[in-house]
Amino acid sequence: MSSETRPDDPFIVCENLVKIHKIDEIEVVALQGLDLTVDRGEMMAIIGPSGSGKSSLLNVLGGLDAPSAGKAIVSGVDLIRLSDSDRITYRRTMVGFVWQNVSRNLVPYLTALENVQLPMILDGKNNRERARELLQIVGLEKRMSHRPARMSGGEQQRVAVAIALANEPSVLLADEPTGSLDGENATRLLRVLDDVRKSLGVTVIIVTHDRSMARTVGRYVEIRDGKTSSEAVRISDELLSSGPSAGHATLDSLVATADSEDTDDAEHGDGSARTEFSEPESHDHYVLLDSAGRLQIPPEIRDAYGITRRVRLVDEGERIVIYAPDEKKNGKPK
Ligand SMILES: Nc1ncnc2c1ncn2[C@@H]1O[C@H](COP(=O)(O)OP(=O)(O)OP(=O)(O)O)[C@@H](O)[C@H]1O
Ligand SMILES: [Mg+2]
Repeated sequence: MSSETRPDDPFIVCENLVKIHKIDEIEVVALQGLDLTVDRGEMMAIIGPSGSGKSSLLNVLGGLDAPSAGKAIVSGVDLIRLSDSDRITYRRTMVGFVWQNVSRNLVPYLTALENVQLPMILDGKNNRERARELLQIVGLEKRMSHRPARMSGGEQQRVAVAIALANEPSVLLADEPTGSLDGENATRLLRVLDDVRKSLGVTVIIVTHDRSMARTVGRYVEIRDGKTSSEAVRISDELLSSGPSAGHATLDSLVATADSEDTDDAEHGDGSARTEFSEPESHDHYVLLDSAGRLQIPPEIRDAYGITRRVRLVDEGERIVIYAPDEKKNGKPK
């Protein structure tokens, strides 16, 4: 495996990434030229509707699936050039996974401690002390000898985080990790992920289709139709990093705020448009350009302005304005 990185290179780089799933003669294009960069030690979320390609992206980044074309580099490892055996080594040594389905993460007849030791044993590096430390980091020092059936769903997912960290991965990939948890347990799990990011320096990518969850992290990127389309970046990073207790309180309140905003969306019966036009102030919002400079205008905005096939792009000196074809420019008829 090649592994040449300069210190200031992004940790993950995807450029024009394509993933085609083939079943018999049928091809499904899950990723259609996706661009993404993630910094080392960042915790970010990928959000998008069902079928948009979130899991396909995570499976490529985690070495579960080979990319079909384009560029996908993680910590200097070029995923498109990996042989099948190198891909297995990459997956075992560099990546930890947490899945939505709690039972996929844990072996039911092993205790929490044995579950965390299992990947170490499989890798020939059993380290009981490290397994204990990991369970402490995720707040389960009192549950080490419990089997999954005797733990709550939230506790089981925290064991899953410890298992994912067992072989000291540099990236943790979580596909809908909070999907089967209630709000309180979901918040706790996100807090644990943020703690391990800070204490172990792991890069964390969380896939979710829950916008309120995405808003609790520093940056979230939206995927539509297999491409990254927009990005939201938290305005102040102090919210999560101003000390453990302050950070935790803020994470809780962010989830609470986001939850109540989602309720508002539902009440207005117009979730998508409202979400697009009145995002909370916690994040700056950007529309992303792809590597060829193409810009995707979100469907809500296209609908609202009657934009279909073309727009006018006008350089007004201090700003660049996109006009719908029949819109007046500078107040004058076109
Ligand atoms: N193994 C596979 N074989 C064939 N098609 C697949 C496979 N995995 C995903 N797809 C297809 O690729 C597209 C993207 O799927 P993907 O699972 O990546 O979406 P997703 O954003 O994770 O959706 P969800 O939110 O429902 O989990 C879909 O059209 C899906 O049907
Ligand atoms: Mg999925």
